[in-house]
Amino acid sequence: MKATLYIASSLNGKMTEGQTNSSWVSEHDEIMFARTCQEIGCVLVGRQTFDQYQGVVYPVPETQNVVLTSNQDRPDQKNVTFRNDLSSALQTIEDLGFDRFVVVGGAQVIKQCLDHKIVDQVLLSLHPYIFGNGLSIVGEYEGNVTLEFEAVKHEHKEFLLVQYKVIQYK
Ligand SMILES: NC(=O)c1ccc[n+]([C@@H]2O[C@H](COP(=O)([O-])OP(=O)(O)OC[C@H]3O[C@@H](n4cnc5c(N)ncnc54)[C@H](OP(=O)(O)O)[C@@H]3O)[C@@H](O)[C@H]2O)c1
Repeated sequence: MKATLYIASSLNGKMTEGQTNSSWVSEHDEIMFARTCQEIGCVLVGRQTFDQYQGVVYPVPETQNVVLTSNQDRPDQKNVTFRNDLSSALQTIEDLGFDRFVVVGGAQVIKQCLDHKIVDQVLLSLHPYIFGNGLSIVGEYEGNVTLEFEAVKHEHKEFLLVQYKVIQYK
C-alpha cells in the first residue's frame, strides 16, 4: 500500500494559519486536489479536517473517503467510511480494491502515514504566505526523508503544484 501526500503549504511549511485556518488555500488548488483524488480513487482524511470542510471539500465526489476517528458510532455514508485506527483504515482501502490512496491530513494523519513509511509521492501545493503560527505539514513527525523533484504539475498565480518522489526514509 502506497500513499500520495497532497498538501497545501505556506512558504514556511505550515498547513494552517493558527491551529485551524485553511481558508487561504486557493479554490483552484481544491479543484486540483479533487481531481487527484478522483484519479487515484481513494482519500484518507482525519476527522477534524473532514468535519471542518464537510459539504465544501468532503466527501470528495467520485472518490472513496476513508475518515479516521476514535468515535465508534459514526455510521458510514455513501462513499464515506469511518475507521478507528490506521491499520483498519489501510485494510479498508485494500478491501475497496486500492493499492494507493491520497493522504491530505490533517497533521496528525500525515504524521502517522510518514511513521508507517507509506508515503512514496508528495504533491506540494505551495502558496505565497508565511505563517508564524500554524500546524506543520508533517505534524509532529520526527523522522527524516529524502525526496527527488519530479515535475511542476501546475502553475497558477495563487500557488505552484510541485511533485516529488520519496527516495529514502532515514
Ligand atoms: N493545508 C492543507 O492542505 C490541509 C489539509 C488537511 C487539513 N488541514 C488543516 O488541518 C487541520 C486539522 O489537522 P489536525 O491534525 O488537527 O486534525 P486531523 O488530522 O484532520 O484530525 C484529527 C482527528 O482524526 C482522528 N484520528 C487521527 N488519527 C487517528 C487514529 N490513529 N485513530 C483514530 N482516530 C484518529 C481523531 O478524531 P476524533 O477526535 O474523532 O477521535 C483526531 O482528533 C484542519 O484545521 C485543516 O484546516 C490543512
